[in-house]
Amino acid sequence: MKKLTTAAGAPVVDNQNIQTAGPRGPALLQDVWLLEKLAHFDREVIPERRMHAKGAGAYGTFTVTHDITQYTRARIFSEIGKQTEVFMRFSTVAGERGAADAERDIRGVAMKFYTEEGNWDLVGNNTPVFFFRDPLKFPDLNHAVKRDPRTGMRSAQNNWEFWTGLPEALHQVTIVMSDRGIPAGFRNMHLFGSHTFSFINADNERYWVKFTFKTQQGIKNLTDAQAQEVVGRDRESSQRDLFDAIENSDYPRWTMYVQIMPEKDAGAYHLNPFDLTKVWPHGDYPLIEVGQLELNRNPENFFAEVEQAAFAPANVVPGISFSPDKMLQARLFSYGDAQRYRLGVNHHQIPVNAPKCPFHSYHRDGAMRVDGNHGRITANEPNTQGEWQEQPDYREPPLSIEGAADHWNHREDSDYFSQPGALFRLMSEQQKQALFENTARAISGASRDVQERHIQHCGQADPAYGAGVAAAIRALA
Ligand code: HEM
Repeated sequence: MKKLTTAAGAPVVDNQNIQTAGPRGPALLQDVWLLEKLAHFDREVIPERRMHAKGAGAYGTFTVTHDITQYTRARIFSEIGKQTEVFMRFSTVAGERGAADAERDIRGVAMKFYTEEGNWDLVGNNTPVFFFRDPLKFPDLNHAVKRDPRTGMRSAQNNWEFWTGLPEALHQVTIVMSDRGIPAGFRNMHLFGSHTFSFINADNERYWVKFTFKTQQGIKNLTDAQAQEVVGRDRESSQRDLFDAIENSDYPRWTMYVQIMPEKDAGAYHLNPFDLTKVWPHGDYPLIEVGQLELNRNPENFFAEVEQAAFAPANVVPGISFSPDKMLQARLFSYGDAQRYRLGVNHHQIPVNAPKCPFHSYHRDGAMRVDGNHGRITANEPNTQGEWQEQPDYREPPLSIEGAADHWNHREDSDYFSQPGALFRLMSEQQKQALFENTARAISGASRDVQERHIQHCGQADPAYGAGVAAAIRALA
């Protein structure tokens, strides 16, 4: 028989009846098991992620299939056939931890590659662009898509007032309102790193890089009507689909590609390559195949491995690095900061977050330090014991920067409408109609002036886009 104990290891003698003064009497303070059980229960909830609160995760393997060592010295890509363990978490953005999966929303996709040189986290979405390109707007976005301060309900007015107040959002809004706005499951969508990152090769040359993962399961989406029906019977539809597929050994796979831009091309390219509201057209920078990502193992415990997972764009490894993208720059701070609050300062020790390679910094102490705190090893550097020294071999090439410090208004070099217009013209007639009708349903709760502003932006992308949305809104009225 397996025996029940307290957290301190002492036997629990009765887990059915509390201790009372007599059979009908009040409880005794000395019933420490009751106190411990309730006290633990009272603290079982940790803060949910501020966005992307609802999600599902799984482990898998990344395998290199093509040689890209000319662009990066990252060991994860060092040879064809090389395999690296991965943990991935998919999510919706606006809904809370108990939200239904089949909602019209962006899907988040966070990947942790446990490389031999440390963890590389790629924290992206199922869309290649984002709503805006200045991180000061990020808290506003979340306030606009989450609950209204007065009613505690979601508000189409807040949502669309915000989006249409930022014309650069049209590209992302077009994707979210398109037939791809409600993926049938996490397995049936492409995944994007979205930002421009950098690669550094063995000769210390820098390339700008974007990451794309194409689903091998095929794209599958739900219409608004199908989604309503799915949510009615299963709020965990995407989570269940992923879990069941892996349990049934039907492992989901994606093919990984990169787009590569030599460092010196950035200044001459016709658009700002660090603008997160834009894609690099494949005609200019073709997709280069790199490898295969497969998910093949479900976590043993959802809270320990999925809820406590912490992904941070700041986690890069030698050969993979950042770019001047303003949004990425802010994200380098925000995730670790959120996780120090959500999980604590030592969250990197939680097994799902810990690197699989040796890791030692001089960080010490802090709440929930459970790894022995490096015992007697010196905690200062410089030291005379030859303990952990910095590694200058991994220094990146200097990045030339010019310009005066200011709050630069990025709207001055803006073309908000060409790329959403091009995306619209790629759609079939049926896809265009779905875009019009999805938009009309989503914006119907917003005021007339907000609707007009959106129609006007759509019209600037393509007159047929504006006319189609206007007609669909009229048809609903
Ligand atoms: C989650 C901040 C933009 C993808 C989060 C979290 C924060 C955050 C604080 C919660 C982290 C946690 O508690 O573990 C920001 C800020 C942004 C930004 C400040 C812009 C300035 C983006 C963009 C993408 C993205 C552009 C995708 C390209 C995600 C994903 C998660 C997430 C996938 C969930 C990670 C997980 O599964 O644990 N973001 N974010 N975010 N964000 Fe962002």
